[in-house]
Parts: sequence; structure tokens; C-alpha cells
Amino acid sequence: MKSPDPRTFEVKSFGCQMNVYDGERMAELLEAEGLSAAADGEEADLVVLNTCHIRERAAEKVYSDIGRLMKRDTTPMIAVAGCVAQAEGAEIPRRAPGVDIVVGPQAYHNLPELVRQASRGERALDTAMPPLSKFGALPARRKQGPSAFLTVQEGCDKFCTYCVVPYTRGAEVSRPFGAIVDEAKALVDAGAREITLLGQNVNGWRDGDGRGLEALIVALDAIPGLARIRYTTSHPNDMTEGLIRAHSEVEKLMPYLHLPVQSGSNRVLKAMNRSHTTDSYLRILETVRAARSDIALSGDFIVGFPGETEAEFEETLRIVEAVNYAQAFSFKYSPRPGTPASNMEDQIAPEVMDERLQRLQALLGAQQHAFNQASVGKRTAVLLERPGRKPGQLIGKSPWLQSVHLETDAAIGDLVEVELLSAGPNSLAGAELMKVAA
Ligand code: 5AD
Ligand code: SF4
Repeated sequence: MKSPDPRTFEVKSFGCQMNVYDGERMAELLEAEGLSAAADGEEADLVVLNTCHIRERAAEKVYSDIGRLMKRDTTPMIAVAGCVAQAEGAEIPRRAPGVDIVVGPQAYHNLPELVRQASRGERALDTAMPPLSKFGALPARRKQGPSAFLTVQEGCDKFCTYCVVPYTRGAEVSRPFGAIVDEAKALVDAGAREITLLGQNVNGWRDGDGRGLEALIVALDAIPGLARIRYTTSHPNDMTEGLIRAHSEVEKLMPYLHLPVQSGSNRVLKAMNRSHTTDSYLRILETVRAARSDIALSGDFIVGFPGETEAEFEETLRIVEAVNYAQAFSFKYSPRPGTPASNMEDQIAPEVMDERLQRLQALLGAQQHAFNQASVGKRTAVLLERPGRKPGQLIGKSPWLQSVHLETDAAIGDLVEVELLSAGPNSLAGAELMKVAA
């Protein structure tokens, strides 16, 4: 049996931070329509699966989740949103007839209307891509945790040969300056103390007057009550001098940069259509470090891209050694339908990819641990974000995006001055020195 007229909902977001942002906005939209979020453990009448299509495993997960939902005593109304919805469209209800709604990442402002259609027993599908029109149609931001996401740019024109994003999220578009600053102020009014500006190519953000991301960062810097600014994910080609300068000039801009290189081999980078080389990447990092000497660097890596030789993989290990990352994300290449790389010859055997990934992750893990250990003894500000496992313990973030655990009487959302006492591979422990004034 299906519940015909949903009163409660659950939005489950997978994949990147842009999906987390979209998931929050869908929840706000459904609340504005009078639905309420299902309580923890309660089975919702409407389940929105906000999906990721970037790697095969992420996409397959959707179908196993739908299968699980179909086994409930009362089957919920099921909406598939996100990048799988965009990429597979009408194919989804063909393969999983229990799905009632399919809605792409540029069309989710129409979710209430799609729910009404589904309530009437009609199958509802919207994968239109009108750039930016959804933002104007979304309700105002509601109460926030201390760290909030704000999408400023969507889509990608870079067409890396392995990547589905240019097909699922469409062409690069930037939201208008004023709309972003207004949303940032609303987030701060709703309790945010840190804002992370999001975009598939966030540093490709431009407005009609030719201003770049640094102009937005400077505008956010002037918002009283906002303590921290971050941005992600950046492309090396859009790492402009102005943005790099902001790292030395804007105090609220945190010393952290996520700048994916993907591979350490120039031949592989060319086959990936990355349009940068290992040298140009390293030169950018040199200027970034000159602007902000304590900057923590992070990256993304793909091992086993078609044709990658052992020697080329070792070049990836070399660039990791040269950069010395504070944090990183690494993946086995996964062929995505419709991308040029999925038709390339010389796909790499899974066991070779496994072995390369293990070696790369061992090196990256050791660098992260060493970075954390080098922080021990520092005094720094920590933004408290969530409860820890032990009573009286809270977990927050250092400026370098490390998780810090500490015993404190301060509240979630407070900035506290902390001495970092010990470090593990994934987090640190600290002792509170004092609360920092807002
Ligand atoms: N296979 C493996 N990893 C991929 N990524 C993107 N597409 C693929 C793919 N087809 C990785 C890249 C990107 C990150 C978000 O996901 O490293 O930077
Ligand atoms: Fe995908 Fe490359 Fe665009 Fe990043 S820059 S979203 S990896 S196509």
C-alpha cells in the first residue's frame, strides 16, 4: 500500500556537499508546503533520495535503497532527485516501478507540484535545466547549525573525460552577487558562524561585472557575526591571483584549499582533459603557500584511469610527496556512461586499481597523520559543531578543517580558543583555554 497524501518526509542526500545543500533546500520547501520532517526512527510518508552519479557504486546504491523502501509495510511515496535522476530520467521508473517522482538538480523547486501529481496517482518527472531559476523559487533559509553551505555556482564546462558532472549539472552558471550576499546574511541571522561557498567549479564564479570569487569573499568578510569563510571545490585553471591574494588579506578566509590534481602524470592529465600540468599545478601551490604559509592543502585523486601504467601511477605518488597534503580524497576510476573515458581502450583491471589505491591511501593517510601531529602544541580557535561521544564532550573544527574533540561547558556554535594536545590520523584532542567573543 502507498501513502497517498504525504504528511511527513525524509530527504536522504548522498555524494557531494552540493547535494547536502540541495537536500536542505528541498526540506525547507516541503516544510513550507506544510509537511514535517519525520522524527528519528519514524518511517516517513515521502522519501526523497537525493542521489549521486559520480561513481558507479554511488549510482547503484539508489536501486538498493528503493528496494529497501518497497519492503516497508506502508510503502512511502518515493522521489529520486539529484544527478542519477538527471542522468537516467524516465529509465528509473522503468527499472524501479515503485518510484513516483523523478526530479533533476535544476528542477527541484517544482517538488511540491510533483508531489501533488504523484498524490493523484500520476507519475511525475521533471529533469528540465533552466539555469538558476530554482533559486528564485525557493523559500527563505531557516534555522542553521554553526556551519552552513551556500551554493554560488553550479555546473561545469571543463569536460574532464571521466566525469559525468557536465552532463548531470549542466553548463557553468554563477548566481548573482546580491542574491548570494543576501542568502549569506540570512544564514548568519539563522545561526551560521561559518559559510562554505559551494560550486562544482566554485573559483570559476564570475558576475556580469567580471568580479571573481574574491569579491564575494570580501563581501562576506563584512557580515557581522560571520566568523569563518571557506570555498570548495576549485579547479587549478581558475585559481586567479586575486583569489590567492584573498588568502593573505581576508582574515575570515580559513587557511585551507581543496585543489584536485587527479594524477601526477602529464600524459594521464592530458587524456583526462585536465588542461593543467603537474608543473602548473605545483606553481599555483607555491604562490598559494607564499600568500598563506600555514595553508592546509587537500586534493582529489583517481587511480587506474584507462591506460595508466605502473610508472604513471608512481608519478602520482611523487606529486603527493612533493605537495604534502593535509587531507585528500582518492578513488578508483569508474567508467561513467556517456563520458569519453568509458570508451577508451586499456581499462585497468580491478585488482590493479585496488592495489594502487591502497598504496596511494597509505601515503595520503601518513601525510594527514603527520599534519595532525605537527599541530600538537598549537593554540588555535575551534568552532564547536556537534556533541561528542562522551558526556561533556563537543567536536569542532580547527581553521585547517581538522576535527577537534574537547571537554567544554561552551555551546555548539561557540568559538573557543583551544590548545591542541594530541593527534590521531583523523582527529585531535584539545583543551579549552577560553571562549572567543562573538
Ligand atoms: N571515477 C572515479 N572518480 C571520479 N571522480 C569524478 N569522476 C570519477 C570517475 N568517473 C572523482 C574526482 C573528482 C571527485 C569529486 O570524484 O576525483 O574530483
Ligand atoms: Fe568533473 Fe572535471 Fe568538471 Fe570537476 S572539473 S566537475 S572533475 S568535469
